[in-house]
Amino acid sequence: MAETGTGNAIQFNRISMVKDFLKRKKDAVLRRIIPSIKKQHYLDSLVGPYGYWDQLQQYQLDFLIRRGLEKQHKLLDIGCGPLQGGLAFIDYLNPGGYVGLDLREEPLVAAYRQIAEKNLVHKNPILIYSSNFGKNELDQIQFDYLWASQILYHLPEEKIDRLFEQISSRMTPSSLFFGDIIGDHPIRDTITTEGYWREFSFYLHSIESLQTMADQYRLTLTSLGPIGELGYPKEIALHTNRMLKITKRQE
Ligand SMILES: C[S@@+](CC[C@H](N)C(=O)[O-])C[C@H]1O[C@@H](n2cnc3c(N)ncnc32)[C@H](O)[C@@H]1O
Repeated sequence: MAETGTGNAIQFNRISMVKDFLKRKKDAVLRRIIPSIKKQHYLDSLVGPYGYWDQLQQYQLDFLIRRGLEKQHKLLDIGCGPLQGGLAFIDYLNPGGYVGLDLREEPLVAAYRQIAEKNLVHKNPILIYSSNFGKNELDQIQFDYLWASQILYHLPEEKIDRLFEQISSRMTPSSLFFGDIIGDHPIRDTITTEGYWREFSFYLHSIESLQTMADQYRLTLTSLGPIGELGYPKEIALHTNRMLKITKRQE
């Protein structure tokens, strides 16, 4: 019986490998002949994972609206990429309400193109190319909401420290920062030693160690639990990430 079970499992694996292979071939052909599919594939490649653009866009917008984001608020989108969430935020917020920043040129070029294609130029979004979280580029602007989706785990400790310094200077006691860190991922330990997304490594951060760093900037961290319970698609492996809320203490 056990042998038959193993045999069935091997056959099942082979069938799903063949199905995956055929699907990838079919997608590659469709990309070649249908320009909109090719374009979406390119945008997906700038944020990862493939095939979840609309769902992740809705998740980002719904998440912040549920936590009080209103049209008149000012939002800083840290690591905005090609505007997967950004397009929905720009559309929702009043003109001038959105600032996105990223340290790579390629997603920002795609972002500018999308703003034009989606007729969002009149919303006057601001995009910033910055390797220091806007320190040299953003003057004294403060924000109601600060959003760091799928980026904190690409930052080593010294960068988290610089991020905290920056966000602290851009927050008032009523501002809210949200961002996710790696939680109980099934390959939590191997992901950090072997995993790469583009040129970025993965880093594990505990809430306790982040709180110690945050203390010097008068920031308080709270865990809101796994992002899979907060609207993030559960089919994506990183749904076990923990969402952090950060507030700034009074002087
Ligand atoms: C996985 S993508 C997420 C994009 C977007 N936040 C989203 O969730 O749709 C991570 C983005 O963070 C950017 N990034 C990584 N390190 C950064 C840093 N130190 N400063 C600004 N952006 C950074 C990358 O270039 C990339 O566009």
